[in-house]
Amino acid sequence: MVFHRHRKWAKLPRMTEPPRPPRRLAVLASGRGSNLVAIQDAIDRGDLHASVALVVSNNSSAGALEFARRRGIPWAHVSAKTDADPGVRLLERLEAVGCEVLVLAGYMKLLDPRVVAAYRGRAMNIHPGPLPRFGGPGMFGEHVHAAVLAAGVPTSGPTVHRVTEHYDEGDILAHTEVPVLPGDDVASLAARVLAAEHALYWRTIARVFDAAPD
Ligand code: GRF
Repeated sequence: MVFHRHRKWAKLPRMTEPPRPPRRLAVLASGRGSNLVAIQDAIDRGDLHASVALVVSNNSSAGALEFARRRGIPWAHVSAKTDADPGVRLLERLEAVGCEVLVLAGYMKLLDPRVVAAYRGRAMNIHPGPLPRFGGPGMFGEHVHAAVLAAGVPTSGPTVHRVTEHYDEGDILAHTEVPVLPGDDVASLAARVLAAEHALYWRTIARVFDAAPD
């Protein structure tokens, strides 16, 4: 009986699923914002089914904010210097735009624990070196590349990880190996790693959040 009912239904034309709305991302960045640009480029090409719903910076002159203004993307400057409670202000802004995923891209502040709690499992960061070996407090930017060169390891490369209350901790989601070449200095290694970041970050967002249930 049940079998027949199923057969009957199976003959009906297959309904097409309604298209899933783009993931609403908030990108947090303190500086130049090249990862933000790479993510937006992937969206514009149709490679990443998402939209940048908000750009947030603690630095009012960040290139990331300039890019947001140019592109008409909503943006916010949230800083301990201008906000009584930056954690609450950030949460309000994120909620106001319906942010689903937090993307840290060169954000130099430790995320407020209330924000981490609200977005647990839905926040990621990109680090310009292998983790955990070349991470932790004080390990950012050129310090990472200098430490990699000093260690004499043959490879470096960006690591994407989930965000926790601590610097550079949280599950590793993706890593690209980038060779350290003879004669490399901090600048040449940084440029090679940054190019790998631009290729890695949007792909990781797509992989992790396209697989996640709505
Ligand atoms: C990147 O190297 C990223 O790994 C680190 O900060 C840098 C940000 O660069 N967390 P940009 O602002 O995206 O150009």
